[in-house]
Amino acid sequence: MLYVSRKEHFNAAHKLYNPSLSKERNVELFGPCANENWHGHNFDLIVTVKGNPDPETGFVVDLKKLSTLIRAEVIDKIDHKNLNMDVDFMRGKLASCENLIVEIWRILNEHLPTITAHGKLHSLRLYETPRNYVEYYGE
Ligand code: NI
Repeated sequence: MLYVSRKEHFNAAHKLYNPSLSKERNVELFGPCANENWHGHNFDLIVTVKGNPDPETGFVVDLKKLSTLIRAEVIDKIDHKNLNMDVDFMRGKLASCENLIVEIWRILNEHLPTITAHGKLHSLRLYETPRNYVEYYGE
């Protein structure tokens, strides 16, 4: 079994704010991340696909096709966007990295079979800052 990864980059604005709670409670929970007028991050997304190489190509997945897929289905929908306001699949959800990575998994997992017969989605890693990241393995 081999693990092949592709890193993509995007930037986006958000705020961490639970509308069912008071403003005071939001500030208590999220501090400056609850700032009403948004803040931004430079995100890195690392997508790892696992599988055995296709005997015809030697690839688990063609990384050019994987990059095109990630960009078309995910990056184009969130890059230079406001995660709370502009992104259909984040509507009604807290704009945390945790919630975002679960939605990205759902989308990529659904589309991956269109580019590889041998690879399965193994993990996602989403860096919100160089020091803070979330990983998801689909469960
Ligand atoms: Ni933030």
